[in-house]
Amino acid sequence: MSIYSTDDGSKSLHSNHFNENFHDSNGALKEAYEKYVIPADLYRFKKGVKLNVLDVCIGLGYNTACLIEAIKNNSIELNWWGLELDKRPLSIALNNQTFKENWSPSVLTILKSIRDFEGWVHPRSAGQILWGDARQQLNLIPNSTKFDLILHDAFSPKNCPELWSEEFLKTLTSKLTCGGRLITYCSAAAVRATLKRAGLQLRSLLPNQDSGNSWSTGTLAILSPSKETINPKGPNWQLLTPMEEEHLLTRAATPYRDLSGLDDAQEILARRKQEQHASSLEKTKNWQRRWLTAA
Ligand SMILES: C[S@@+](CC[C@H](N)C(=O)[O-])C[C@H]1O[C@@H](n2cnc3c(N)ncnc32)[C@H](O)[C@@H]1O
Repeated sequence: MSIYSTDDGSKSLHSNHFNENFHDSNGALKEAYEKYVIPADLYRFKKGVKLNVLDVCIGLGYNTACLIEAIKNNSIELNWWGLELDKRPLSIALNNQTFKENWSPSVLTILKSIRDFEGWVHPRSAGQILWGDARQQLNLIPNSTKFDLILHDAFSPKNCPELWSEEFLKTLTSKLTCGGRLITYCSAAAVRATLKRAGLQLRSLLPNQDSGNSWSTGTLAILSPSKETINPKGPNWQLLTPMEEEHLLTRAATPYRDLSGLDDAQEILARRKQEQHASSLEKTKNWQRRWLTAA
C-alpha cells in the first residue's frame, strides 16, 4: 500500500493487492462529501433522532469521519457499524498529519477508538467495527438492526466482485429501514440491476462538473416506504437518464454471483463471463454505439 496526494490536497492510498486507488484523483475528502454525505440528505433527520449507519469498507475512514463531522452539532444520535478486511488503511491514515488535520478532535478520537478498541460508546453516539471479510462479518450484525444509511465503498466490481454480488447486495438491502438509502460511488449496470431487483428505487449521482466527464458519479438506492414515490431529484442526484436505464437491459447488467459467500474474485468473474456469453440480453457494444456515437 502506498500513500498519494489527491487534487484537493487530501491523502489517499493505492492498494497493490487490488491494483486500485482508494479514491478518485479529484480528492478523497471531496469524494466523501460529494458522493456520500451530500446524497444522504442529512437535514431530513430531526433533532434527537437516532441515525443507524453502516460503513461498508471503512478504509481510511473518510466517509464515516465526514458523516460524523456533518451531524456532530445538530443533536442527531448515531448508532454506527463498520465492516473492513484490513486494519492497515486506518492505522496508516492516523499516522499521517495531513489526514489528521481534516478532522475535529472529537472525530479523531472516534477514529482512534475504532482502530484501538473496535468502536466507541459516548452518551449520544456508539459504534462498532467488525474486522474481516464483510461477507461473513455482515451476518454478525443483529437482524433487529436496520440502517438508515449504508455507505458502500468497496473496490470496483472488476477487482472486488465479492462485495458487489447479487447475494451480498441483497443481504445488505435487507438491512435497510423503510426509506433507508444505500449510497455508492459505483454506477455499474450489474450493480444497479441487482439493487433494482432487490426492490430499491435508483437514482443517479450527478456527473462531476470539474472533470468534463458526463458519466454519473455513483448510485443512490432507496427502499421506498410502500406506495410512496421518491423525489426524482435531490442533492447531487437525479433520475437515471434514458441512456442509463437502457444500460440495465444489456449484458453489462449481468450480475456477479457468489452463492456460498466464499468464492474468490476469479471464480465470480469467470461465472459472470460464462453467463454473459449465454445471455439473450442485448450486447453492450450495441448500446454503446447507439448512445456514445450520438453524444
Ligand atoms: C475503496 S477502499 C475504501 C475507502 C474508504 N471508504 C475510505 O473512506 O477511505 C476499499 C476497502 O475495501 C476493503 N476490502 C476489500 N475486500 C474486502 C472484504 N472482502 N471485506 C471487507 N473489506 C474489504 C479494503 O481493505 C479497502 O480498505
